[in-house]
Amino acid sequence: MQRQVYLTGQMVAETEARISIFDSAVLLGDTVTESTRTFGHRPFKLEDHVARLYKSLKVTRIDAGMSADEMLNVTEQVLEANLPTYGSEEDCWIVHNISRGLAVPGPDPTVQQGAATVMIYTQPMDLRGWAKFYTDGCHAVTPMSRIIPSQSLDARIKNRSRMAYTLAEMEVKLVDPEAQSVILDLDGNVAENKGGNVFLVSNGVLKTPRISNCLAGISRDTVLQLARDRGIQVEETDLQPYDLYTADELFFTSTPYCIMPATKFNGLPVGNGSVGPTVQLLLRAWSELVGIDIVKQAIRQLGVT
Ligand SMILES: Cc1ncc(COP(=O)(O)O)c(C=O)c1O
Repeated sequence: MQRQVYLTGQMVAETEARISIFDSAVLLGDTVTESTRTFGHRPFKLEDHVARLYKSLKVTRIDAGMSADEMLNVTEQVLEANLPTYGSEEDCWIVHNISRGLAVPGPDPTVQQGAATVMIYTQPMDLRGWAKFYTDGCHAVTPMSRIIPSQSLDARIKNRSRMAYTLAEMEVKLVDPEAQSVILDLDGNVAENKGGNVFLVSNGVLKTPRISNCLAGISRDTVLQLARDRGIQVEETDLQPYDLYTADELFFTSTPYCIMPATKFNGLPVGNGSVGPTVQLLLRAWSELVGIDIVKQAIRQLGVT
């Protein structure tokens, strides 16, 4: 069975889904986006993702041509249509990409001339690249490129203009092919990873940058809530590389892997160099919340050829 995707009002087989080479998604990267994942085939916090999507749409002045409730409905339909292609143990992404539609050359590229291009699809949740980091931790590295400041493009707009993130991630891969970026802002404060938020634990306090220089991640919110519920003190604050070097624990949060521990930062061990107790506690708490052992699910995929 072919994957069914939603393209501007229609559910079509993926091979039938075509957009114009003149779409603003292609010409301008003028596209807002969301990525949600399922746990046990049920979407996790889909309402929050759609709410963030509609904030991105509003600020970027893209009219998706449907209400948030309609978007939720269509999204559920896309998931339903594709669930038969996923095994019972398998989960998937649900991705929204919405561009301003056809880009019109000339003096004013800002006007939405026609319908927005609304693209929704599911994709298998392939966790193999992350699986070993749950037990070994990854190597967090600061690239030389800095994050685009929110004064230029507000970090809360989840968008598909990904050139800056991609180049930053390439820079850290030059240091270590398995490195994950910790991108700094222009003032030298920790901002975020190319697709995740950054957390540290120091003397029992969980700290993460404020959302003035990073995406207001839904996994970030989840971790803050899980921590507060367990009596862990949390702080949203400015962090510099020094704080990461001297932290007891360091980790990233993002929709696919939820929590990814880092046991090295720019070549130095974080804490005692192993995955720490707070990360493990939070991973257990999240697993309980969704009824899936997040670590086991990822590690099981390594046995799949
Ligand atoms: C730049 C950036 N930061 C952070 C995140 C984490 O956000 P979330 O937890 O909502 O997946 C993402 C997710 O794709 C991202 O692209």
